Amino acid sequence: MESRLKDGFVAELKSRCSFTQIASKYLELTKKGRTYWARCPFHYEKTPSFSIDEFEGFYHCFGCGESGDIITFIKKVEGLSFMEAVEFLAKTVGMEVQYDSQADMATIAEKNRQKKQVLKALFDTKEFYKKQIYQKSAIKAQQYLKERRINRASLENFEIGYSPNFKLLVTELKALGYDDKVLLDAGVASEANGKLYDAIAERLVFPIYNAYGEVIGFSGRILDSELDLAKYKNTRQTIVFDKSRAIFGLKQVMDAKRNNHFNSLILAEGQIDVIMLHQYGFQNAVATQGTALTEQHAHIIKKVCDNVYVCYDGDSAGQKATYRALDILQNAGLNVKIITIPNGQDPDEFLKKNGQAGFQELIDKAEEVLDYKLRTLAQNSNMTSNQSRSQFLKNAIDLIKTLPTLAEADVYVNSIAKFANVANNVVRESLNNAMSSLNAKKDSPKELTQLAQNFSDAYQKADKIILASIIHKKPYIIDNVNLSFVNTNYQRLYSLLQSKKEQGQEFKISDLYDVFDFEQDKDIAELVNYKFSDNEDKDKQEYLNSLNVNRIRYLEMEIKDTETLYKNATDLSKRTELLNRIGSLSKELATLKSSFIN
Ligand code: UTP
Ligand code: MN
Repeated sequence: MESRLKDGFVAELKSRCSFTQIASKYLELTKKGRTYWARCPFHYEKTPSFSIDEFEGFYHCFGCGESGDIITFIKKVEGLSFMEAVEFLAKTVGMEVQYDSQADMATIAEKNRQKKQVLKALFDTKEFYKKQIYQKSAIKAQQYLKERRINRASLENFEIGYSPNFKLLVTELKALGYDDKVLLDAGVASEANGKLYDAIAERLVFPIYNAYGEVIGFSGRILDSELDLAKYKNTRQTIVFDKSRAIFGLKQVMDAKRNNHFNSLILAEGQIDVIMLHQYGFQNAVATQGTALTEQHAHIIKKVCDNVYVCYDGDSAGQKATYRALDILQNAGLNVKIITIPNGQDPDEFLKKNGQAGFQELIDKAEEVLDYKLRTLAQNSNMTSNQSRSQFLKNAIDLIKTLPTLAEADVYVNSIAKFANVANNVVRESLNNAMSSLNAKKDSPKELTQLAQNFSDAYQKADKIILASIIHKKPYIIDNVNLSFVNTNYQRLYSLLQSKKEQGQEFKISDLYDVFDFEQDKDIAELVNYKFSDNEDKDKQEYLNSLNVNRIRYLEMEIKDTETLYKNATDLSKRTELLNRIGSLSKELATLKSSFIN
């Protein structure tokens, strides 16, 4: 992907982007020292743990571990691909995107031209279908709308259309001047035996829009349930239509949002559900195209709202889909609640029986994710079997043990105990155990347990101070000291710093992003966001002490190793040499240690 861009273009683009200026369109930033802080756009939080370092061109969230550069940021908040994010940023700062070569530029221009034509063809196709639904030939479709109780306002709002047969669309669009290629590119026509025909012929047609108000495809419902054909037929993948991004109802939601502020979306399964929800006054309903919800969908939703109600069909397929959707939505930073529709119904059926008030009640009763997960987990367990009951308890504890505090997890103890019909204390005890072993793991990274002696807190802290001072280019840094690190990430970082120095290049914090995964490499993320005190003399003293601590660890380890060598050595001159070495190392160690005591 990136190789399609001219060498150095990305660097040039990044250098022209003011991270904070661009981010301020999405976030409320406060400046503290050199760092800007905001509430994280990628997870829900009340107090800011999302930081931007303008100079280094880099963000990191201490809450969820998300980090990256301005391009990653735009990719995520705008739900774009890498290339699209680059184009977006270039437009924002008024740069022309520079591609690899002239030939490539021509390809891009050609692609843009093709895209424009495709969008135009899609628009005209929508207009064609819309017109058809009012014709005599559409009697069956009109009948069907009546049966499903889709009213005139919904018909107009969703621009529902009709395809009367296999031929007419192609004939009419060709008369408008479109050639075969565009109709095929747009996915509105298919080809068989050298002839084009309407890709969703003889169906009720629902146009699908993107977030920019452009028609990108269609979904066609069959009217005759006797026919042995798929109930819905969707536009195939094209340069503008991608099922894993398409959200039905998005345009209507955006339209409604102009007059009516809402802060949540309702995510349903089917288009008729969406249409009915709007018809009953829930103008914040959307659906994906029958495929599983994807991360891209979630990011698009996040752009519209922070809160989402998952409202899938009440059957077991719907429940399974809900489970999958929850993690994806939460990972995108959305606050999620679940609406459960009783008796395996879908929203459409439920609304028709219970009306707006009935559905509003379901919204009011919507469950938090954990409540929902625990309840459905319990419902799917047979509590009369001891084995599956203890399995339930284990799974339930697994769900809550990762909550930040015991107090937060304890809230669920009652309901778990009730589901499994055991005493509260039984649950509480296993929760305590699970959480303390989890915390023990958190507090002791692998290296710590392996080499407990060498990795005392003091050593860790010293390493942190030294590396933080180096990467933040503190004025008191002393060059040319021998440093050693035991933590593998610190070692990697240190050799990166050294190789930059050898090559005469200036190190920038954004260089770290190429080497480390900040989600996993929390120790490095911590360095990047290290908080120095306001007192530079004090920081300097701490740094100098840390150099000594680092050296002490090196000496202790080196002495130990040399002692082992000495014990195993048989050659006399070798033994003498090793002994001398131990002597001088020990002397240095003693001096260093006494300097600490004084
Ligand atoms: P459902 O089968 O639940 O459809 O599929 P529905 O909306 O309740 O349909 P009606 O009420 O009978 O008309 C949910 C969604 O899955 C997609 C469609 O987007 C549908 O709205 N789907 C379903 C397909 O894409 N193809 C199919 O064959 C079936
Ligand atoms: Mn359904």
